Amino acid sequence: MGKFEAEKRIQKLRDEIKRLREAYHTENVPNVTDDVYDSLTRELKSLIKKYPEFEDPNAPENRVAGKPLDKFVKVHHKARMLSLNDVFNEEELYDWEKRIKKLLPPSPLQGEGQGGEVNYFCEVKFDGLAVSLIYENGKFVRGATRGDGLIGEDITQNLKTINSIPLQLNPLLNKEGVGGGIPSYLEVRGEALMSKKTLISLNKKNEKEGKPAFANSRNAAAGSLRQLDPKLSAERKLDFYAYDIAEIIFSSPLVKGGIEGGWYPHTHSEKHAYLKKLGFNVDGNDAICKNLEEVIAFIRKFEKIRSDFPYGTDGIVISVDNLKLQEVLGVVGKAPRYMVAFKYPAEKATTIVKDIKINVGRTGVLTPLALFEPTLVAGSTVSKATLHNMDQIERLDLRIGDTVVIEKAGDVIPKVVEVLVKMRTGKEKKFKMLEKCPACGGKVEKKISGWKRSDLKNFKRSVLEEPELSVAYYCINPKCSAKNERYLEHFVQVFEIYELGPKILRRFKDEGLITDAGDIFILTKEDIAPLERFGEKSAENIIQEIENKKKITLSRFLSALGILHVGEETARDLASNFGTLENLILCVRQDLTQIDSIENIGPAVSKSVYEFFCDKNNLNFIQKLKENGVVIKKEDKKKDGKFKGLTFVLTGTLSQMSREIAKEKIIALGGKVSSSVSKNTSYVVTGVEAGSKLAKAQKLGVKIIEENEFLKML
Ligand code: IVH
Repeated sequence: MGKFEAEKRIQKLRDEIKRLREAYHTENVPNVTDDVYDSLTRELKSLIKKYPEFEDPNAPENRVAGKPLDKFVKVHHKARMLSLNDVFNEEELYDWEKRIKKLLPPSPLQGEGQGGEVNYFCEVKFDGLAVSLIYENGKFVRGATRGDGLIGEDITQNLKTINSIPLQLNPLLNKEGVGGGIPSYLEVRGEALMSKKTLISLNKKNEKEGKPAFANSRNAAAGSLRQLDPKLSAERKLDFYAYDIAEIIFSSPLVKGGIEGGWYPHTHSEKHAYLKKLGFNVDGNDAICKNLEEVIAFIRKFEKIRSDFPYGTDGIVISVDNLKLQEVLGVVGKAPRYMVAFKYPAEKATTIVKDIKINVGRTGVLTPLALFEPTLVAGSTVSKATLHNMDQIERLDLRIGDTVVIEKAGDVIPKVVEVLVKMRTGKEKKFKMLEKCPACGGKVEKKISGWKRSDLKNFKRSVLEEPELSVAYYCINPKCSAKNERYLEHFVQVFEIYELGPKILRRFKDEGLITDAGDIFILTKEDIAPLERFGEKSAENIIQEIENKKKITLSRFLSALGILHVGEETARDLASNFGTLENLILCVRQDLTQIDSIENIGPAVSKSVYEFFCDKNNLNFIQKLKENGVVIKKEDKKKDGKFKGLTFVLTGTLSQMSREIAKEKIIALGGKVSSSVSKNTSYVVTGVEAGSKLAKAQKLGVKIIEENEFLKML
């Protein structure tokens, strides 16, 4: 990007960031997630780093967020409520250490080992609302939101409805080793939170009442505490976790000499221990670490249990433990130098759509693919995402050049979820579907897949459901090379003929050894061995593998046929209902009601199954496969296993077995495996980095189990 363009983009980014900030902090609108905001801010910062001439101290990114609402009484914080600088990976964490170590004295001030070593304190970063609580002589007197860091809102009445905020502090005695009596003045900082469980039930209730759902627990907590009527906020069941003491003064008669006699913390970890003794909730997932290796180990350990943590968290807060060292390091701008937030990979990010390309699928379907400016989402760099179809492009109103929000939750494939329309410059280009196939130049036809009412004359079924139609564009050239290649790749994958990768398949086609998938089974060693770069050994391996894979279950055979809308799952449903291919063909062609009445099979599927088996070419192809040695095995019917009637969805990475094996085990026990979560899902099994499926399960109230529990069930 040139300087001129950069300046324009910086302005756009600033406007959008400002808008999001205001919406978020003052209007409580849960329309944007932190990830999007962070992503835009990151891009802005990197542009300013490149073009420092556009730095502006009064720009929105240099201000602490949030204006207090007029509805509440304003409170001036005695000590500014700061924010934290973020780091997103280990490298940035080491950079932070390098920066602070330069500022620290070579020999440590107190407590820690030799040679400038620093102890770090690690704790969970809660995703709630920061609040400040004031206690005078042990009594809770005032609580406030952070606001802009200097001025917040007095929400004392609402905070009093949170059971875990002590209204009276525990009296502490000298023998407990943390000072005598009770501080005469204490300011505690911490986070007001809504647990994931409460959030789910609140959202369910909101849904029933037709109210919008809260996007995350922070919005819910903020929304609840901003209720002017404390009764409403009491209903929301919030919790409070303390993480810092901003100020502590002793002048109690119990402590002779006031300040000198009182107890003052030396480390951040001591503050935590003290807060706990006073009666606050303090989260126990913390550690004092001697170096960054230990910090990183802590970060990774918590990452594994993060999805089970009862509250939303977005990272780990790492502080220099020693308070004297904290003082030396001080604060720059709005954030302390002595603390950073390690953020777990964002599941959403923003990027620019550079182009839209068309892919040709195995059915000839033309699928638009968005090409991005590479960007980091959920721990990996993403540079493209499928847009599925033209409907999707229209729904999103996506144009080339647009800034978009992309999402990649856990194991989920990246997708474009939103266009940031306000970021447009006017130069964006609308995308039009090609008139010719980009692979073969063949004719492109718009087809309506699914079914329409007029189709019903072909069906015996008298359905009441609304037609489900989706428009798609197809290359209708039966000889289209791209289409055939994709189909071959699909076919060998389902047959598990791993020796035949896409490159080899293309080579065999180019050499005229195969024209369609049926030819694979009559290949001989003599066909392959003479080809350049093959030879006897590899030819033998290929032939052996093909021979070994000739027997296939009916469900996999059906899935290999590539019938429109028939994936693995539907193929299993068809196979278990019909038992044999002959039976299926007969039933489908004679009496559609049979297929129509199968559970999970909708009109769109039954229509395409019907059409597939009415096409003579397809029947000839099946015949050819059989003649060439493909044997369809009987389906292993274990429908009566202990998982009968149960549907599982797997998400995240399982540590004990691959997903494929887990799937097989579930099926062997009579269960079903589905790729998406719905009301009908019995269990969602979560591995590491479980993503959006988990969130959906929580939303729908589907039972969520950890890998260990799943293993026990097996
Ligand atoms: S320490 C210096 N500890 O993160 C200000 N903050 O990004 C940070 N937060 O406004 C105080 N969990 O709302 C601290 N364990 C934790 C935290 C935490 C969440 C929030 C807090 C703050 C924001 C800064």
